[in-house]
Amino acid sequence: MKICVIGLGYIGLPTASMLAIKGFKVVGVDINKSRVEEIKNLTFKTVEKDLDTLVKGAINSGNLIVKTEPEKADVFIICVPTPIDENKRCDLSYLNKAIEDIKPFLNEDNLIIIESTVPPGTCEELYRKLNKKVFLAYCPERVLPGNLLKELVENDRIIGGINKESAEMAKKIYESFVKGGIYLTDIRTAEMVKLMENIYRDVNIALANEFAKICDELSINVWEAINLANKHPRVNILKPGPGVGGHCISIDPWFIVEKSKHAKLIKTAREINDNMPLYVVEKIKKLKPRNIAIFGVAYKGNVDDVRESPAIKIVDLLLKNYNVKCYDSYVKSFTYPLYSLEEAVKDADLIVILADHDEYKNFSEEDIKIIKKLVRRHIIFDTKNVINKDLWEKEGFKVYLLGDGHIK
Ligand SMILES: NC(=O)c1ccc[n+]([C@@H]2O[C@H](COP(=O)([O-])OP(=O)(O)OC[C@H]3O[C@@H](n4cnc5c(N)ncnc54)[C@H](O)[C@@H]3O)[C@@H](O)[C@H]2O)c1
Repeated sequence: MKICVIGLGYIGLPTASMLAIKGFKVVGVDINKSRVEEIKNLTFKTVEKDLDTLVKGAINSGNLIVKTEPEKADVFIICVPTPIDENKRCDLSYLNKAIEDIKPFLNEDNLIIIESTVPPGTCEELYRKLNKKVFLAYCPERVLPGNLLKELVENDRIIGGINKESAEMAKKIYESFVKGGIYLTDIRTAEMVKLMENIYRDVNIALANEFAKICDELSINVWEAINLANKHPRVNILKPGPGVGGHCISIDPWFIVEKSKHAKLIKTAREINDNMPLYVVEKIKKLKPRNIAIFGVAYKGNVDDVRESPAIKIVDLLLKNYNVKCYDSYVKSFTYPLYSLEEAVKDADLIVILADHDEYKNFSEEDIKIIKKLVRRHIIFDTKNVINKDLWEKEGFKVYLLGDGHIK
């Protein structure tokens, strides 16, 4: 069986490689020529453990070829971006273009599987417009960036079919590598499930962020309060932070806001999380710095992904009044220049931590001593509660946490 995977990004490349390793003939397609060349030459950058080995194995097996244009196949799997536009509505242009691109190669018995996240109703609409007798399924991806390969195999999968046969056909493909359960449903429910998952997280992060702001106001340490509240057997409050980034949680809830007049809590949660960068900047202002070193611009710990990262907005706002130097050893390119650790902290009078990379967790006494010599003032503001506070305080740093009630 031949499978054409359209879009070789975070999701498409591992999926295409996994299918090739499992014996399918796979044609990986990406419109970005340099992406295709990087994959061919195995020079693409990733922090995903073992992804390079997987891709190398797939290419060397002869089962995976990569190119810029689709060709005839039995199955087409679509993994192209679905961002939001300036009005916070789902931008389906990449998906529509991908469908147009495969149209000339489609046969009646072909199966199209959409993996891109979309608002409910999108696949039915797409099927109507396509006006061809094909099979169509929606199988959303739910991997955690940073742990992608493990989750690609182990997570349960939801497959929605435009009809039962479509869902069953898609199940046969995923069964080849998925060890988790595979659950079949209709296509609209599958679209909703994916969004509900991300909305659940977004709303709960918004609650944690609201708690952080309340605790700041009422002089309570939110981290201790959350830790203690979570001792309740049915309570599991998430962690606050400088905002929500990434390609999914910060975007997908808007797909429901666009579709339903009832999405009030969902919209408010989005607004709370989107306003966190502003809140962090207000706190930084109170610490009266001139030179600021930012540690961690990725949207979360131990990944190289800066898409929708709250760091972008925070640095943007800070640059209006301060000198800012960013340091992130995981990230290869960012909206603003990246510096080495030493360059970033040199003459800084405030260090701000925005991502919970393990590196910051594991700073040794020696590391802190080096930083101490280079900075101008010994103040650190940790928005993720990641550093070893005692160690920094021992070296004479004043440590502030987001939501600890100390920055007034
Ligand atoms: N990144 C994640 O963790 C994640 C998790 C779950 C779901 N998703 C969803 O999966 C989809 C893909 O996300 P991603 O992170 O892989 O995106 P990505 O930006 O990393 O990759 C998408 C790729 O598609 C290519 N592309 C765009 N249009 C194309 C076309 N017409 N033909 C061929 N290639 C084309 C782009 O060049 C790019 O390389 C999105 O809808 C996203 O919401 C992503």
